[in-house]
Amino acid sequence: MKIAVSGKGGAGKSTVSAQLVRSFTLNERPVFAVDADPDANLGLVLGLDPEQIENLRPLVELQDVIEAKNFGGGTLVDLNPNVDDVLEDYILRVGLIRFLKMGSIKQGGSACYCKENSFLNAVLTAMLLDRDEGVVLDMSAGIEHLTRGTARGVEVMLVVVEPTRSGVSTAKSVDRLAADLEISQVYFVGNKIRSDEDRAYLESELPPERFAGMIPFSEQVLEKARRGIPLVTGREDLLPGLEKIYAMTNGR
Ligand SMILES: Nc1ncnc2c1ncn2[C@@H]1O[C@H](COP(=O)(O)OP(=O)(O)O)[C@@H](O)[C@H]1O
Ligand SMILES: [Mg+2]
Repeated sequence: MKIAVSGKGGAGKSTVSAQLVRSFTLNERPVFAVDADPDANLGLVLGLDPEQIENLRPLVELQDVIEAKNFGGGTLVDLNPNVDDVLEDYILRVGLIRFLKMGSIKQGGSACYCKENSFLNAVLTAMLLDRDEGVVLDMSAGIEHLTRGTARGVEVMLVVVEPTRSGVSTAKSVDRLAADLEISQVYFVGNKIRSDEDRAYLESELPPERFAGMIPFSEQVLEKARRGIPLVTGREDLLPGLEKIYAMTNGR
């Protein structure tokens, strides 16, 4: 199953992504855990080694690979380079987790970053459309790594939303972007829910039938974040609602 997770900064994208990644591994399924948020923290929430995360180069910076895959840097952009070797070589493997960092999509003025962007696109295409492993993409609210082409491989998008006005506003804009990309299954996930009022608020602002779940505010999650310890080490660490969300995103 290929899942994209989006939402406002701080909403809990990396928390939900890490919980889903661990749900895959607890079910003995290999999974790509992709940090595609420029404000990258998925690796730390997963509890991977900080030094190894730091040393892993974001895909967008793999100039040498990008050059080689584009026939030595000519103007011809190969839209379908074979990226399987990249997927094998530039990934941090920890147990069943294959962790990688995308890096920021480059956009800008007169400069053309076609090569970098087509390379990222090729890697995403390989992961989302060609490979059998699960994928969890931890993305910013801009979901700018996705194109119409790669979005076809996203089976479910989860939009994490806190019960605040600005959270809801961002969730609505992510939902519009996802609709433009024609992602067919887009669900909201309420997070840091402290009361019935929080839940009612979200269900009054967004269609209730489009919620995959509501995750309570958890002191343990915050405590682990403070201490920098892995969010999930066993099934008992999965947050309420998470197993249902995992089951939903994995075709039950
Ligand atoms: N359900 C929750 N209960 C308590 N704290 C949470 C919960 N979800 C996320 N957090 C905390 O909120 C902060 C932001 O979460 P994070 O997943 O890093 O957000 P994002 O990746 O969307 O920026 C972190 O400190 C995290 O520990
Ligand atoms: Mg994050």
